[in-house]
Amino acid sequence: MDELVALCKRRGFIFQSAEIYGGLQGVYDFGPLGVELKNNLKAAWWKSMVYENDNIEGLDASILTNSLVLDYSGHTDTFTDPMVDCKSCGMRFREDQVPESCKKEDLTEPRQFNLMFKTNVGPIDDGTSYAYLRPETAQQIFTNFKNIVDSTSKTLPFGIAQIGKAFRNEITPRNFIFRVREFEQMELEYFVKPGDDEDAHNSWVQKRLKWWEAQGVPIDTIELYEVPTDELAHYSKRTVDLMYKFPHGLEELEGIANRTDFDLGSHSKKQNELNLHAKVKLNKDSNSKLSIKNNESGMVVPFVIEPSAGVERGMLAVLNQAFTIESLPDNKSRIVLKLKPHLAPIKAAIIPLKKNDEKIVDLAKKIKSKLQDLGLGRIIFENTGNIGKSYRKHDEIGTPLCITVDFETLENNSVTVRDRDSMQQVRIGIKETEDFFMEKIQ
Ligand code: GAP
Repeated sequence: MDELVALCKRRGFIFQSAEIYGGLQGVYDFGPLGVELKNNLKAAWWKSMVYENDNIEGLDASILTNSLVLDYSGHTDTFTDPMVDCKSCGMRFREDQVPESCKKEDLTEPRQFNLMFKTNVGPIDDGTSYAYLRPETAQQIFTNFKNIVDSTSKTLPFGIAQIGKAFRNEITPRNFIFRVREFEQMELEYFVKPGDDEDAHNSWVQKRLKWWEAQGVPIDTIELYEVPTDELAHYSKRTVDLMYKFPHGLEELEGIANRTDFDLGSHSKKQNELNLHAKVKLNKDSNSKLSIKNNESGMVVPFVIEPSAGVERGMLAVLNQAFTIESLPDNKSRIVLKLKPHLAPIKAAIIPLKKNDEKIVDLAKKIKSKLQDLGLGRIIFENTGNIGKSYRKHDEIGTPLCITVDFETLENNSVTVRDRDSMQQVRIGIKETEDFFMEKIQ
């Protein structure tokens, strides 16, 4: 973990937020390379959900959430963690995360602590007009269910996908970006006919494993964890967690839950007409009946299968898998981030051999702009004049290709292309660079 954290800071992936003022605990900023990696991971998820499935639609809902949404979802009452204080060191911990150095007899009785961030809405702060920063992206998918069904004419089964910020006032944020207070989720709510939920659940577990494999987190690095009944969230009939061996231990990367008809049922009016399976709180505030027409059985409240992944945890897993220290001849070594090309923050670096040679520099800029125009991600023109140093840097940040423009290029229009993983260099014509690049990156 320490080496990964150091690399992330040194190369501009991830910084502690407000570091110059001593930081803000559990909050991180994503630097020039971090934002590219994050965007690429989110784009891969969006593509696999929304673009590759005609029965999945996207949504980008508000972060500020009407408190009624979270009252009926159960968050106001149950989104809590047990908290204890250590009378000896004066620190506060989540009950299951007390360090060994604190003695049992020094701990207070656990108290429930609600993890939601509350904020004032409007100009008068008298405590009556407030909203929450959403603790999960899911709820606004449920409250928009009718809007999306009406505007897209969807029929079961179908899904609504969303990527966005979520906020939790974690008692003990820790392990770099693993447990933080501000993070992003990639959540799909997949609506199915009651009775089809168990098959759909199993099928999404398999699909999500394959997706992680395509991001460079192989299936054999993930363990499936059947969440025991007494640990299930209040809405869940069954949850399977994808557990990944993070640098600090085996922990949840993504949860895939069968949320039954709990959420739509909870946010619905006239609940007594809906034949709900889940036990829900009587809703006196909703103005919408969240059911959908199903050919065989009239109006039904669908069951929901929810694959929910954290972007930051995804980044940590992807970075951890990619981080490699390789021995080289002459007792040397190199750090290389073997990221999948579609996730790499920089797709290719174009490097002039000589910093001040106008012809070489101009040609390198032209190649950069031609590859950039392909729209496959960021290409950089790297004019350090030091090829060895550039290769080292691009190995460390995971750039799949380095293209060097030299004196031979001026004579015969060929460039040297160096592959990040094999370090092999091949000479190809400038005309071939686009095809070569596209094949490698796509
Ligand atoms: N909508 C369901 C839900 O929010 P969750 O298991 O609480 O379920 C889903 O969260 C995912 O969000 C987790 O698997 C994890 O990847 C991510 N996540 C949750 N809390 C997090 C935190 N404090 N920091 C970073 N990621 C978090």
